[in-house]
Amino acid sequence: MEPYRIKTVESIPFTTRAEREAALLASGYNVFSIPSDLITIDLLTDSGTSAMSDRQWAALMTGDESYAGSRNYFRFEETVRRITGYDHIIPTHQGRVAENLLFTTVVKEGDHVPNNIHFDTTQANIEHNGGVAVNCVIDDAYDPVKEVPYKGNMDITKLDKVLADVGRDRIPLVLLTITNNSGGGQPVGLDNAREVSEWCRKHDIPFIYDACRFAENAYFNKVRSNLDQGIPEIARAFFDLADGCTMSAKKDALVNMGGWLALNDDELSEKITNMLILIEGFPTYGGLAGRDLEAIAQGLEEVLEERYLAHRVGQIQEFGRALCDAGVPIVLPVGGHAVYIDAKRFLPHIPQEQFPAQALTCALYLEGGIRGCEIGGLMFAADGQWPELELVRLAVPRRVYTKSHLDHVVDVCAKLYSERESISGLRITYEAPVLRHFTVRLEPVD
Ligand code: F0G
Repeated sequence: MEPYRIKTVESIPFTTRAEREAALLASGYNVFSIPSDLITIDLLTDSGTSAMSDRQWAALMTGDESYAGSRNYFRFEETVRRITGYDHIIPTHQGRVAENLLFTTVVKEGDHVPNNIHFDTTQANIEHNGGVAVNCVIDDAYDPVKEVPYKGNMDITKLDKVLADVGRDRIPLVLLTITNNSGGGQPVGLDNAREVSEWCRKHDIPFIYDACRFAENAYFNKVRSNLDQGIPEIARAFFDLADGCTMSAKKDALVNMGGWLALNDDELSEKITNMLILIEGFPTYGGLAGRDLEAIAQGLEEVLEERYLAHRVGQIQEFGRALCDAGVPIVLPVGGHAVYIDAKRFLPHIPQEQFPAQALTCALYLEGGIRGCEIGGLMFAADGQWPELELVRLAVPRRVYTKSHLDHVVDVCAKLYSERESISGLRITYEAPVLRHFTVRLEPVD
């Protein structure tokens, strides 16, 4: 059961099918363009959508909005340092700014940056600096039904190949995303992180986590590897293996906005802090209000509670199981923050060039007022190369929806599956040159 009770409630919108049909048409079949007032269950993202606790709301009132040296920064810094062990804690207003600060400082034209699988903004920030983002996840990650415990693991032989192809001087850092969002929210095992760490040490290459969902990743390790340590100790065992992390506090810090970059390297931190002042703000607020920093510090205490994580991860597992029981093809095993529907198996009659995952995303909205997120050809196809996976992500915000909300989603998915042949493909009518999925417009093929 939920390890909390509800103190404040928020009404959710209900719409008619005719209203949803009109909204889809007006949005160009792009659910990013539909106003949230027309969404009944919003599973677009787990990012910035968490419900804060009473203690976090109370923490806001202790905000010290001094330009420099706010006491909230010191609690934030102490908390992040205690959890990660890193020396320099640089606040940013969200994760991609931490990425941007890091990559503009270390990535040069032609550099290669390996990761298990890059998130879209991570890849775009590397490419923006002339770099090449290379995905080195184990092959099992591309098999949507193969059940292995740590499907987010890095394949060390793929790292060796990047090294052999481009040489050590063209690899400014290695990233590891915990959990691996673009590959299904799949965890990375501690042993694998250790191997990546050893590989990086051997070749003298910095090792940085993309740590957005580090607590969920630690919980998977506790359960799947039967570890005796508590969640904070497991998380720390991961952080001890690397030289720093980028973080979107909008996920595993249980807040609606925030992030950080944490590093051990003094010289690099100094350079980045100077850039921070230029684009984000003074080093003790970095684009955030003092009260936001306090809410992050409090959220980090709560996210590491085992009872919270057992419910959080358990809710997603149960959601996935119910979809499986209804015959809906999903990525297995179920990840930590979302269930991913396998659109290639759901809609085998729609060729990948007609964006089956986007077609299914639109059908979910039309049928049930549910907003999911396409993670497939629309998001990742480039230069005639199509991604292997064609998924619809149903990301579950933290502490927001109950079982009956998710039961509605299961019912809608099951109904659509039984009528799947009536769903048709889409074609693009407008696209932006980068990150096109946010603003793309489409129309039905038929
Ligand atoms: N890295 C990962 C693995 C992410 O999932 C995200 C965001 C970011 C970096 C960027 O963080 O949004 O704070 O700038 N993921 C959200 C999502 C947007 O929906 O998965 P940000």
